Amino acid sequence: MNSATEVLILGSGAAGLSAALRLAENGHRVTVVSKGTLAGGSTLWAQGGISAVLDEEDSLEAHVRDTLIAGGGLCDERAVRFTVGRGPDCIRWLVEKGVAFTQEDGELRGQRLHLTREGGHSHRRVVHAADATGRAVETTLVALAAEHPNITVREQSVAVDLVIDRAARRVLGAYLMHRPSGRITAVPAKAVILATGGANQVYLYSSNPFGASGDGIAMAWRAGCRVANMEFMQFHPTCLYHGDSRSFLISEALRGEGATLHVPNADGSVGERFMPRFDERGELAPRDIVARAIDHEMKRLGVKHVWLDISHKPPEFVRAHFPSIYEHCLKLGIDITRQPIPVVPSAHFTCGGVLTDLRARTDVAGLYAAGEVACTGLHGANRLASNSLLECLAFAQAAAEDLEVELPNLPEPPPIKPWDESRVSDSDEDVVVSHNWVELRTFMWDYVGIVRTSKRLLRAQHRVDLLKREIIEFYRNYRISHHLIELRNLVTVAELIVRSALERRESRGLHYTLDFPQTDAVAKPTVLTPGR
Ligand code: FAD
Ligand code: SIN
Repeated sequence: MNSATEVLILGSGAAGLSAALRLAENGHRVTVVSKGTLAGGSTLWAQGGISAVLDEEDSLEAHVRDTLIAGGGLCDERAVRFTVGRGPDCIRWLVEKGVAFTQEDGELRGQRLHLTREGGHSHRRVVHAADATGRAVETTLVALAAEHPNITVREQSVAVDLVIDRAARRVLGAYLMHRPSGRITAVPAKAVILATGGANQVYLYSSNPFGASGDGIAMAWRAGCRVANMEFMQFHPTCLYHGDSRSFLISEALRGEGATLHVPNADGSVGERFMPRFDERGELAPRDIVARAIDHEMKRLGVKHVWLDISHKPPEFVRAHFPSIYEHCLKLGIDITRQPIPVVPSAHFTCGGVLTDLRARTDVAGLYAAGEVACTGLHGANRLASNSLLECLAFAQAAAEDLEVELPNLPEPPPIKPWDESRVSDSDEDVVVSHNWVELRTFMWDYVGIVRTSKRLLRAQHRVDLLKREIIEFYRNYRISHHLIELRNLVTVAELIVRSALERRESRGLHYTLDFPQTDAVAKPTVLTPGR
């Protein structure tokens, strides 16, 4: 067998690793790339779980319906049925791989999995490993990938750009920068899977790790792929508000198990429970509604956070169901079995992304996208809780299945010309990168957040244009660094979000604008095409 890489997979979260394992198990040579360590993406941090229909009282039809309702009329029903239909099998695959999910009786690993509940779900259908589901999934897949003979792992390697044969509209591989040495090498491959995760670090406050800078979306856009629905950035309603821990998520599963949201009284104590005033589903309304209600109450009262309270539940129940959250908060001096938790919304999930079909194919031949980087049509205008990990698994499987058929037909990639650094010099202006990084994320938070107006969006667009020019100039003249690569991608993603938000002249799902509060009768996706 040829030892060269057949499939280059950029990203090692649930999407990248499950695609890698499926391909490697079928005898294909795969290289998996991650910016940091293999486990460094969002997957590791997922708390609540993975939605799948496993209870006899539940049905695929009900899961489809809940997803369509959360998606605000914008989901592609074929993608929803496709993903939901693959749910039970994907969970079985993970169990076979050794992922230890919580059982009915509280034990890990077993036949009857405990199902928790989250906002927007009409049944208990969220499979989980206590409150650290992502850790259980990611560490299991990392261990299997690391020892698989068909998988080559390249950690601490940042994909700078895809290499494209523009005439044939075909991917040939990618340029990777080795972070410790700064060396850039070309990796040719017959096919590339983008599994680089979301773009939520485009906002100042995010539940995501720092690497979530939309690299895959920006690379695909530069490569000529269409990008869709970028205005739908999901804000998770409940991130911990604490000076020493700004981005820690407090899982929606707490609300699923009875936690309630309250405004603070003037003296800071726990005040009125406010969600019933906004939605009859109370704390279990979909995320867009809960995040907007919190934003509204914080602005109305001029407070820095609201309270989330689960202290009415027995302490042993709280500790058993939410051990990681309990420990994390306790270290910060908050005993959640006795005290309320200060929470605020923060940027959490990118519903839009690189447009793909049901085989995870993009507009460029040989280039696939799976996981949060992609826009499959599943989420529409708002993602239903715990549908993301499911999407990662279902579309990674779809990509692997398609490649099984396609790889024999795809030509060997030609040699790629080395990266040209002859005209650049070392920069002594790193402060420009760090300043622009903060500036971009701050105005995106202030102007393109939970509640939008056209004036604020135009203001953001103006600033994006200025920053983009400066960053491109910097990129052309200086030796690139990891942070400059991310900043260049973030400004591209910011541009795509603002353009998409300006194009949508209505409010739908996560896109809420005071200038167009109505929801149009016909739902249309926002599809942006490079060069137009
Ligand atoms: P990630 O897991 O984010 O992995 C991205 C990978 O791409 C990383 O390996 C990274 O190093 C690599 N990468 C990125 N750019 C480059 C580059 N330029 N070069 C090389 N490598 C690159 N979803 C649920 O369904 N259920 C939950 O309970 C849940 N809880 C969540 C809790 C938190 C705190 C967060 C942040 C998210 C949560 N989500 C949840 C969302 C879900 O975790 C993510 O959508 C999902 O894990 C994304 O997986 P992924 O494989 O697409 O990308
Ligand atoms: C959570 O546990 O609240 C996150 C679930 C998700 O993002 O799907």
